[in-house]
Formats: sequence, structure tokens, C-alpha cells
Amino acid sequence: MFHKPLEDIFPNPPEGLDAHALEAHSMPQHIAIIMDGNGRWAKKRSLNRLKGHKAGIEAVREAIRCASDCGVRFLTIYSFSTENWKRPQTEVNGLMDLFAKTMLAEVDELDEEGVRVMTIGDLTPLPQDTREAFDRAWDQTRSNEGMTLVVAVNYGSRAEMLESIQKIADKAAAAGASGKDAPRVTEELFESGLYTTGIPDPDLVIRTSGEMRLSNFLLWQVAYSEFYVTPVLWPDFNRYEMLRALLDYQRRDRRYGAVR
Ligand code: IPE
Ligand code: IPE
Ligand code: MG
Repeated sequence: MFHKPLEDIFPNPPEGLDAHALEAHSMPQHIAIIMDGNGRWAKKRSLNRLKGHKAGIEAVREAIRCASDCGVRFLTIYSFSTENWKRPQTEVNGLMDLFAKTMLAEVDELDEEGVRVMTIGDLTPLPQDTREAFDRAWDQTRSNEGMTLVVAVNYGSRAEMLESIQKIADKAAAAGASGKDAPRVTEELFESGLYTTGIPDPDLVIRTSGEMRLSNFLLWQVAYSEFYVTPVLWPDFNRYEMLRALLDYQRRDRRYGAVR
């Protein structure tokens, strides 16, 4: 269900892009975005990489509003991977600072719009103010019933899966040598140990900046997701780029291995 008339969500579509072609009944329930290309966006303008990350914030704001207005239930944004610690310390610090400031600045408006803000990933190594900003956003918005914004921060799919496997192994060890009470490893048990437990698998994964890889993002959860890669760099991604992705998604035939 769209929460606003389509001409209000997409007021000035570029020539040839028809928002009215969008169908409410086949909207993705969960969109996951690999927001890539901030550094290249900055480089093209001879700016510092952090300026690219700052410019990316406006694109995040627009993506959240657009997805929420379109009735999307879950929007996951890949913000910092477990591998991103390899970047120069100044960039890492700048990003952490940006996360804290942005979260604090945006939380009231998100709350008013009914958005529920949660995180996936291991927040323990984050600077205290960044962790507190995410914790506060969750505390303030946890009972909201609008779209859930899932911020993937210090997220790595391999670490996530290993954690779940470890929990199962610990249960098995506690069951004793006979193994009589050992848990049976099922998809449900494995998924109950992931950060994403309770969140439906993404229907649509969008990656900006043209890279054709997952970079350790939701490896288990994207088994049957549709992929959309655009050359547009993340700071240039706007509601019309989102509209292109949604229209493309709605043309796909999702077969899940069956014949139809
Ligand atoms: C994505 O942009 C943001 C993060 C990974 C935090 P990049 O910083 O990876 O931009 P490029 O890929 O260098 O252009
Ligand atoms: C993926 O982008 C991580 C995020 C968007 C947070 P990267 O820029 O880190 O990925 P690679 O290094 O190009 O694979
Ligand atoms: Mg990148």
C-alpha cells in the first residue's frame, strides 16, 4: 500500500519514467541496499573521501522516505562492514562520528514518521557515542509500527553465521556426550541465531556504483533475492533511481526453483 499519492512521492520524474507503472501489490517487502561509491563521488570532485560520506547522508534520507512512502516494510542499509576497519584511521573515525551525529539528528523525525530503527552487526567495538546513538534510536523507536530501518554497522555475514553456529555448538556441548538432548540443526534454529532473526529475507538487493559483488552482506538471507546494480554512485542515488529499481524488480519472474 502506498502511503501517499504517487505524484507526491515522485513529483518530477525524468522523461520516460512513469511512477504510475508502479504496482502496490507487488512491492518488495524488504529492500537491502549496499550503498557504495561515496569515495569515488568525492574523488571526482577532488574532495576528501569523508565529504563523499557526508553527501551520502542526503541519499539515505531520501531512500528512507521513499521506501516508507511506498509501503516497504523493511529497509536495510549497509553502512559499515567488518572489513571497513582496514581503511585509514581518519576515515574510520570520521564515519563513526558521522553515524553518531546523523542518528542523533534524525531520530526524532524518524520517530514521528513511525519508523523503527534497529541495527545488525557487532556494536561492541564501536566508539561509545556511536553505540549510544544507535541504542538510543532503538529505545526511542522500538514500539513504532511503520517501516523498520535496519542499519548494518560493523556487519559481516560470515561473522554472523559463525556466531549462530557457535551458539548451536554450545548447546550441543551442554547436551553432554550422549548427544541425546542435542539440538537438531534446522534452518529455523540457524536463523534464530542470526542478527536478522524475525526480519524477512530481502526481496530486492540494490548495489550502487556498479560493483557486482556482495562484499560479505547477508549471504544466507539473499538466497532468493533479486539483484539490481546501478552505476549511479551512492550520493547521486535519489527517489527516481529507487523508482527505476522498483520498476525493474516488478518485471522479474521469481520462481524459487519451481516451474511456472
Ligand atoms: C561506501 O562508499 C560507504 C562505505 C563503505 C562506508 P565507499 O567509501 O566504499 O566508496 P568507494 O567504493 O571508495 O567509491
Ligand atoms: C561494501 O562496500 C560495504 C558497505 C557499503 C558498507 P565496500 O566498498 O567496503 O566493498 P568492496 O571493498 O568494494 O568490496
Ligand atoms: Mg566501496
